[in-house]
Amino acid sequence: MARLNQKFIGAVAAAVLVAGGAHSADVEVLHWWTSGGEAAALNVLKQDLEDQGIGWNDMPVAGGGGEQAMTVLRARVTAGNAPTAVQMLGFDILDWAAQGALANLNDVAEQEGWDAVVPTALQAFAKHDGKWISAPVNVHSTNWVWANKALLDSHGISAPDSWEEFTAAVEKLAAAGVTPIAFGGQPWQEATAFDAVVMSTGGPSFYKSAFIDLNENALGSETMKEAFDRMAFIRAHVDDNFSGRDWNLATAMVINGEAAFQMMGDWAKGEFLNAGKNPGSDFLCFRFPGTAGQVTFNADQFAMFDQGGTVSAEQAALASAILSPSFQSAFNVVKGSVPARTDVSDADFDACGKQGMKDLAAAASSGNLFGSMAHGHAAPAAVKNAVYDVVTAHFNGEYDSETAVEELVSAISIAQ
Ligand code: GAL
Repeated sequence: MARLNQKFIGAVAAAVLVAGGAHSADVEVLHWWTSGGEAAALNVLKQDLEDQGIGWNDMPVAGGGGEQAMTVLRARVTAGNAPTAVQMLGFDILDWAAQGALANLNDVAEQEGWDAVVPTALQAFAKHDGKWISAPVNVHSTNWVWANKALLDSHGISAPDSWEEFTAAVEKLAAAGVTPIAFGGQPWQEATAFDAVVMSTGGPSFYKSAFIDLNENALGSETMKEAFDRMAFIRAHVDDNFSGRDWNLATAMVINGEAAFQMMGDWAKGEFLNAGKNPGSDFLCFRFPGTAGQVTFNADQFAMFDQGGTVSAEQAALASAILSPSFQSAFNVVKGSVPARTDVSDADFDACGKQGMKDLAAAASSGNLFGSMAHGHAAPAAVKNAVYDVVTAHFNGEYDSETAVEELVSAISIAQ
């Protein structure tokens, strides 16, 4: 709560009031998809429901990564006024399910055979106690870099494969007076970059023991210190106005040629597409240097809040619409993510989307698919927030790398 300002608390209060007026045959959907690309994708879902005669009562709460949305959700539930459906990530879904707040979607899941088509890694966050408690809409991944192609071409730079190639490209751009890295200084964005940096620095088994197993030796290691040193390199190559910048404004810098690279999840692609840009010719997508073959994922899901025992007809219709193969294709083509079903064709996806689908399947079968720490799929919220705090303090110069490692070990141990 300490990070929230008065204006935001006011917004929470207003949200609680406004939502009180929802018509019961509508679905009221709480989400954080407020950027241009996100809103375009959300419209695909709204349209789908409208075509079925179901009204959409929109409850957007701005803030990438969904921290603010989750604060509003807690306020709504405390006020006895839970929204019908809520965009949610990973461990947050399991937390609400454990509290008995979520509706059981087993009827629609059985009817439509979700067990057979939703990847196991997602089912781990969509089922609780043998019950389906949320409807997965996509799979995003956080270890991507987005680049302005013309800018790279004009400096004779191609997509870097390794950290060393990346630092050489960044230094070359900086020497030429170009802002190498578009960055938004918000805790969740710093943590998003940290996902990829940790994976690249230590490799997949290090990522797993540090972030999934929360192993103290890995968290306190020299490798972790090296990861923080790499974050310091990134910090040294962002522009002066990075602090507090929203992620989509950082994407816009790459779109407009004001910066070369953004390290961000593939929701960034939605912004490029929304601006009429094409992959391959206008922008490049590539895996964060040193993480080829590995995927740190987060899946957006919609959990239905129990409105008194059973799933309402509108909630069932929403869940069914979300899992339909045609919707999964249409939505994810626009959103930048890939389908949450294994049986959707990649025919309508662009080159980045096709690569994303291939990478996800390959990482899942080679044991290189791991939940994103920054986006709630590696550890519960208390641990995630502890990581945010340390990464942010280090990024802003409060801790050197050695102190950051010590703080990480102790903050995570306290949070468990
Ligand atoms: C993520 C979410 C994405 C994307 C991003 C920025 O947590 O999974 O769908 O929208 O936040 O808002």
